[in-house]
Amino acid sequence: MFIEMQHIVKKYGSGENTLFALNDASLSLEKGEFCVILGPSGSGKSTLLNILGGLDSADEGRLTVGGEELSSMTKKALAKYRREKIGIVFQTYNLIGELTVRENIRVVSDISAQPLDTDGLLDELGLQKHKTHFPSELSGGQQQRCAIARAVVKNPAVLLCDEPTGALDSSSSRDVLQLLRRVNEKYGTTIVLITHNEAISGMADRVVRIHDGRITENKAGTKKPVKELVFR
Ligand SMILES: Nc1ncnc2c1ncn2[C@@H]1O[C@H](COP(=O)(O)OP(=O)(O)O)[C@@H](O)[C@H]1O
Ligand SMILES: [Mg+2]
Repeated sequence: MFIEMQHIVKKYGSGENTLFALNDASLSLEKGEFCVILGPSGSGKSTLLNILGGLDSADEGRLTVGGEELSSMTKKALAKYRREKIGIVFQTYNLIGELTVRENIRVVSDISAQPLDTDGLLDELGLQKHKTHFPSELSGGQQQRCAIARAVVKNPAVLLCDEPTGALDSSSSRDVLQLLRRVNEKYGTTIVLITHNEAISGMADRVVRIHDGRITENKAGTKKPVKELVFR
């Protein structure tokens, strides 16, 4: 398996006040899988994503990605892992307001070892017409598509998305999800997307549910076309 998360524990506080953000969570994903993680607020979704991305470390358990064991990496090795292997998309787009769409993407590609061609990517993701626009000139959905291009230009092995459509209406959500599907298919990027929107689970290869830090369900998804997802 490309990603192997085994018996991960992440806790906050101590003694009687110990809170298990993740409690014996295990998850394996194949390269190129599109995994949707569902769970209510506070269930541990972001914690799980942050640990996968090397932004946070587990208290117990073992995590390997592409044969590399994160749980035993030094800070420096972890920084290299994040820089080379991981792309992250958040609910808030975090684009640089003073830079155009194309420049926002170049900032990342310029410091990447083997970036994708920026203009090829803009074409691929249908962003050519926005490349000279500033973030303030774009809708939320367009900004999120730009944020995805920025996360993808370094050609990461894993793309982590934390509630990427959380601030979008259903039409913009579809555009963003369609784009993620395209990235997954075109570049073989393994995608882990967390959401509390049930409808999104319909497009997944794998659907994982988490509750109180525990993985309560892990099953193959139906991989429906994005246009068939029913948002409510
Ligand atoms: N830095 C922290 N300190 C204390 N508790 C935290 C911290 N980060 C997360 N938690 C707690 O861990 C649990 C899981 O949080 P999180 O992973 O952010 O949930 P989700 O993303 O599913 O909403 C929550 O109860 C949250 O309050
Ligand atoms: Mg969260």
